[in-house]
Amino acid sequence: MKKTILITGWTGYIGSHWVVAFEQAWYKTVIVDNLVNSSLKSLDWIEKILWYKPDFYNVDLRTSLQPSPLEERGQVEKINYIDWKEVKWNFSLEEVFKKYGFDWVIHFAWLKAVWESCEKPLEYFDNNIVWTIKLFEVMEKFWVKNIIFSSSATVYDSRVYEDKNFSWAVETDLTWNTTNPYGTTKFITEQILRDLSSFSGFRVANLRYFNPIWAHESWVIWEDPAWIPNNLLPYIMKVATWELEKLKVFWWDYPTIDWTWVRDYIDVVDLIEGHLKSYEKITSPQPSPLGEREQGQFEVYNLWVGRGISVLEMVEVARKVTWKEISYEIVERRSWDLAEVYCNPNKAKKELNWEAKISLEDSLKNSWKFYNK
Ligand code: NAD
Ligand code: UD1
Repeated sequence: MKKTILITGWTGYIGSHWVVAFEQAWYKTVIVDNLVNSSLKSLDWIEKILWYKPDFYNVDLRTSLQPSPLEERGQVEKINYIDWKEVKWNFSLEEVFKKYGFDWVIHFAWLKAVWESCEKPLEYFDNNIVWTIKLFEVMEKFWVKNIIFSSSATVYDSRVYEDKNFSWAVETDLTWNTTNPYGTTKFITEQILRDLSSFSGFRVANLRYFNPIWAHESWVIWEDPAWIPNNLLPYIMKVATWELEKLKVFWWDYPTIDWTWVRDYIDVVDLIEGHLKSYEKITSPQPSPLGEREQGQFEVYNLWVGRGISVLEMVEVARKVTWKEISYEIVERRSWDLAEVYCNPNKAKKELNWEAKISLEDSLKNSWKFYNK
């Protein structure tokens, strides 16, 4: 029998790739999202790849009862192009759990804009922590204790990255002292999950990544924020298509190769492969020293390429790939930016037999095919 997996936040950038990867690997996926940062267009994109639409429920984790209709939330324009009957509108999370016997939950539903989290920390704590706890309560109630959590390398203590002798963050490095409320929400949720694995038998794959780029190889799903993008690659692509005039480079005063910030950008297809591998690892049978009692598990993996790229290096690769001038100007730094962020992916290589394979140039080439359409 096919395993059934609940994906929260599926219509988002990473979640929609997941749905495709899992359905193609013969799992049944059921998906929930409140569409706060995504649209039902993803249903159409996914249908083009799979030839069918997976079960989608318009559930808001923040409402334990039924979510308010989209009209009331001013989101009606998002659904004009879709047949309303395809969406199951009036369900609560509990009702969805009642309807399916889930084996796993993959939790992507999150507010993720770092700048916005600095402006509205309480909203981020509420959406990302309080309502995630409610999700865990429902999971426990229905005896669904397996979860993949999409964390971030922002949980590492900023001093880990700022240490002069710093090489790459490893999974055992200190997590604490985050630079922004978004990071704090990931940090706190990791701690909660660790405790749930020790005391409530939750089995957790906790994956830390940071800068995913590009899109599904079918070219159907990609990160195309309708508004001005926060992240570097979509911004650069919109400069290349002349939708935006200039990239704003957030300052240069750090002794990196060209004084601009260094990050490790990972292709989302590699990232999904890492999720699948961690899923396989954590679902493989484990000996239980606790006998009758359920054994919890909390496995942390850095999913990284292991390749530092500065902002101006990224601009250079984009120039080569697009054959367009990418104008930029230096503006003030963002308060939360760390100069160099990269993590050691060796544990994932060793234990999951996973490593990122797609070159930066190929990622950008594929990305450009979309934006240049
Ligand atoms: P995204 O914003 O595209 O997707 C998140 C989805 O969650 C959206 O579709 C949104 O509508 C939904 N959502 C938010 N709050 C909800 C709620 N209360 N109820 C129901 N749905 C809700 O983000 P993404 O880039 O696909 O990221 C997915 C996950 O991966 C997030 O947890 C994010 O923090 C994590 N992550 C992302 C990155 C990145 O750079 N994209 C890096 C590290 C970790
Ligand atoms: C941030 C979060 C990370 C999260 C990611 C995805 C922190 C510290 N970082 O990463 O957890 O996974 O967002 O949402 O919490 N840049 C510019 N101009 C731009 C945009 C970006 O110069 O217009 C630079 C930034 O200074 C940074 C790099 O490009 O050095 C990448 O920035 P961005 O794509 O925003 O991701 P991060 O801040 O690295």
